[in-house]
Amino acid sequence: MVCETTRRSCGVLIVVAAAAVAMLAALSCGVGPANAGGGVNGNAGRQQRQLKAGSGGGSSSGCSNLNLYEGSWVYDQAYPAYDSSSCPFIAKEFDCLKFGRPDRRYLQYRWQPGGGCNLPRFEGEKFLRRMEGKKIMFVGDSLSMNQYESLLCLLHAAVSNSNITRQSQPYLSTATFQDYGVSIMLFTSHYLVDIEEQEIGRVLKLHSISDATSRLWRQMDFLVFNTWAWWYRTGPQKGWDYVQDGETISEDMDRMLAFKRALTTWAKWVEANVNAAKTTVFFQGASPSHYK
Ligand SMILES: *[C@@H]1O[C@H](CO)[C@@H](O)[C@H](O)[C@H]1NC(C)=O
Repeated sequence: MVCETTRRSCGVLIVVAAAAVAMLAALSCGVGPANAGGGVNGNAGRQQRQLKAGSGGGSSSGCSNLNLYEGSWVYDQAYPAYDSSSCPFIAKEFDCLKFGRPDRRYLQYRWQPGGGCNLPRFEGEKFLRRMEGKKIMFVGDSLSMNQYESLLCLLHAAVSNSNITRQSQPYLSTATFQDYGVSIMLFTSHYLVDIEEQEIGRVLKLHSISDATSRLWRQMDFLVFNTWAWWYRTGPQKGWDYVQDGETISEDMDRMLAFKRALTTWAKWVEANVNAAKTTVFFQGASPSHYK
């Protein structure tokens, strides 16, 4: 999941821990209206939302000012909320139970915000009812894929007999809960900014998010972005051959600076294209490696 320890070392953005947990909480638990604090104003990465715990806030006596982003993972025997070995949405490389991982304790953690606040448990059907007619998209690398699959599994466990249709295109997977009119999508983008095939090779364009890339993003009600894991890769693991910073195209550059440039481009895209009255934007921070 999300690596808390990177929060302060990032230096570019305040990395938002547990963004997906926060999204689920904000959307399904009555800690705020579905659009509470939505959108991004000012500096996109600094969006740290203070949601007031509402009446649906669970047994939260003494909880007056919920900050979803400060807290810890605590052990809870009531979890996991789904069994990955019987979830049809999980990619085989992430299906640890099916492939024989013996321990289970790692599945039984839940996010506990500080300040004496408890989050109500996730309820899949309630989530779907609240999200009726909405489109949710995860945009990013395989961490986004993990989140996408987890959300689908959480929902599938709650409404396993309902009609769920799936579509797959290059870079885009969609699952639609037809009975609720809810679409959940995964848009694969390792760097968020464009990579263009040119004669010299693949050029990572730090200042460009083209319309072709982002046309679909604009139609969403919820966008959960993520990028980090690919920025320091070298050799065959690197996803580009050249990097373009302004007018300069080079074989390499300071990677943190490249990351900063790309996230600045992304933040500008959000400011120019997202209607905060309609669309809620989350940025999911850095992740630890999940491949051996
Ligand atoms: C599921 O929904 C799709 C799209 O509305 C529809 O075409 C299909 O017949 C439905 N399948 C079932 C089993 O109800």
